[in-house]
Amino acid sequence: MKIFLDTADVGEIHRASDAGLIDGITTNPSLISKIAGNRDPKEIYLEICEIVDGPVSLEVVAIERARMVEEGRKLAGIHENAVVKVPLTEDGLKACRDLVSTGIRVNVTLCFSASQALFAAKAGASYISPFVGRIDDISGEGMQLIHQIRQIYDGYGYATEILAASIRHPLHVVESMTLGADCCTIPPKVLWQLVEHPLTDRGLEAFLADWDKSGAEL
Ligand code: G3P
Repeated sequence: MKIFLDTADVGEIHRASDAGLIDGITTNPSLISKIAGNRDPKEIYLEICEIVDGPVSLEVVAIERARMVEEGRKLAGIHENAVVKVPLTEDGLKACRDLVSTGIRVNVTLCFSASQALFAAKAGASYISPFVGRIDDISGEGMQLIHQIRQIYDGYGYATEILAASIRHPLHVVESMTLGADCCTIPPKVLWQLVEHPLTDRGLEAFLADWDKSGAEL
């Protein structure tokens, strides 16, 4: 199970990467615009790609096939770790095929149904990003979608990796793992919630207090 960090915040990426917790990064236009200010997003993308030794998803903002392909080529040229993210639309699927045919890896994003995931796989996507949290937000069952996609990809032999996205809490990650998602992209807050546990803190405190009482030294 690969763990990606869902952020464009370089400080957060350094922290998680230094701890050896992440295998890649995903960004989207909302995440990059939150932190870019006056900086050229391409500079930030390059910085991110140089921190992490793994796939870094960078999203196009065009909505028409030819423009998506043009932007996708530019994004892919930023660094060898770049994976181009395109939305799951008719033009997005066409752009996916075009980019894949030139050897560029594609992450098809904004997936909300099993049928959409099937067409992304047929278009040669390296990753499909089902947005589980946004489905839960409208009283659907995001995890049901992960299960369905797993069944379809395994049943028909598609190699596209399932990248569970729009993760809101630790249980989403655990359930994604159980259901066979290949990767999960997690906001920094949830990543640290997965690492930390109150019983670990309490246990450590008790061990150290007992050690101090003993007066022993290592
Ligand atoms: O990167 C895409 C996805 O993870 C977005 O999540 O929380 O905006 O639904 P969210």
